[in-house]
Amino acid sequence: MFQSQFARTFCLIFSLPLLFLLAPHILPPRHVPISLPDELDDLALFNRAVATGLRSSSNPKSTFFRLGSTNPKFKIAFMFLTNTDLFFAPLWERFFNNSSKDLYNIYIHSDPSSNVKDPGGIFEDRFIPSKHTERSSPTLISAARRLLATAILDDSMNFYFALISQSCIPLHSFGYMYRSLFHTPFSWRPIKFRSFIEIQSNGSILHDRYYARGKNVMMPEVPFSEFRVGSQFFILTKKHAMLVLKDRKLWRKFRLPCINVESCYPEEHYFPTLLSMADSEGCSHFTLTRVNWTGSFNGHPHTYSPSEVSPPLIYELRQSNFTYDYLFARKFSPDCLTLLMDMADSVIIKD
Ligand SMILES: *[C@@H]1O[C@H](CO)[C@@H](O)[C@H](O)[C@H]1NC(C)=O
Ligand SMILES: *[C@@H]1O[C@H](CO)[C@@H](O)[C@H](O)[C@H]1NC(C)=O
Ligand SMILES: *[C@@H]1O[C@H](CO)[C@@H](O)[C@H](O)[C@H]1NC(C)=O
Ligand SMILES: *[C@@H]1O[C@H](CO)[C@@H](O)[C@H](O)[C@H]1NC(C)=O
Ligand SMILES: *[C@@H]1O[C@H](CO)[C@@H](O)[C@H](O)[C@H]1NC(C)=O
Repeated sequence: MFQSQFARTFCLIFSLPLLFLLAPHILPPRHVPISLPDELDDLALFNRAVATGLRSSSNPKSTFFRLGSTNPKFKIAFMFLTNTDLFFAPLWERFFNNSSKDLYNIYIHSDPSSNVKDPGGIFEDRFIPSKHTERSSPTLISAARRLLATAILDDSMNFYFALISQSCIPLHSFGYMYRSLFHTPFSWRPIKFRSFIEIQSNGSILHDRYYARGKNVMMPEVPFSEFRVGSQFFILTKKHAMLVLKDRKLWRKFRLPCINVESCYPEEHYFPTLLSMADSEGCSHFTLTRVNWTGSFNGHPHTYSPSEVSPPLIYELRQSNFTYDYLFARKFSPDCLTLLMDMADSVIIKD
């Protein structure tokens, strides 16, 4: 009797560590916790970027421009956030080849566990120190912030910061994009440049997304009435990039793991909510990256396949109901590359 009870207890005690060892393999990953060293590492990077950004000539205080000042030296930072190879690298190379080298910079954040290959050419050595990223976790926010910080530190002439993914394609030439973003309408007043970020306050999905981390967790920093949703892909001005890097208050909330993983898309909320609270007027409230949500599946939008790719599709995807044409589109499957390259000069980068 005693012996069998002893044996049971013995088994139980020794199987506990085994359970901890196996649990991560049996249970699906609920979230990727951001470790303290990673958090401190990021914080040091963001602080350096903010300090450097404030000292530079294109700092937010001097981003008011007078009519006629075309500021040709200001650059666009193209920030690729990826966890696969950059399968559209040749298309992007064609796009950048048709531009002046001193008007842009490229930065790539790639999940270290996915062993992304350096495509060479204009992408060579453009990889930034990166960390693990995963859907349904705040790691995608951290990756975007790392890209912003690195771009600010790297080149003081970076003025616009465009976040794109490996499945994004350009819809216009570089020149067209540059003119759209830096276009200054005729006005005697100083021009204030805006960020192109989607900011919506739709009721349907917001409730579940807000409570994904539990009840009352977001309070008092983020009341439900201030909670916003928008596309993960944005173009921020330097002023807003700095604002995002300075933020500690909202990040403390958005970095919390979700209890409801189905409604966990922190990157679609953090940036729109923060910018809407801090400077709603300074944002377009729409994104310049076209996406097709018709027939979306498991949170993924429609992915265009070669059978759908044609010049009319490119023309259609450019059209928007805003004051600007769309500049980028997603998602395209890797096997669209050949067709896209065939129409690169005659359609995509032709003004
Ligand atoms: C871009 O330009 C370089 C140098 O002029 C050339 O070697 C390369 O083939 C071009 N790439 C594309 C995709 O057109
Ligand atoms: C870009 O392409 C256009 C034609 O589409 C050409 O006129 C222009 O000179 C090219 N610019 C550069 C910098 O290659
Ligand atoms: C939010 O509402 C707008 C129209 O007001 C609609 O176009 C858009 O698809 C909606 N977004 C979501 C995420 O439901
Ligand atoms: C959006 O995707 C659907 C399929 O889900 C397709 O039928 C439709 O043509 C696409 N719209 C555009 C504008 O490409
Ligand atoms: C523009 O608005 C019209 C009317 O609401 C809508 O049918 C169309 O899909 C919109 N176009 C885009 C590109 O969103």
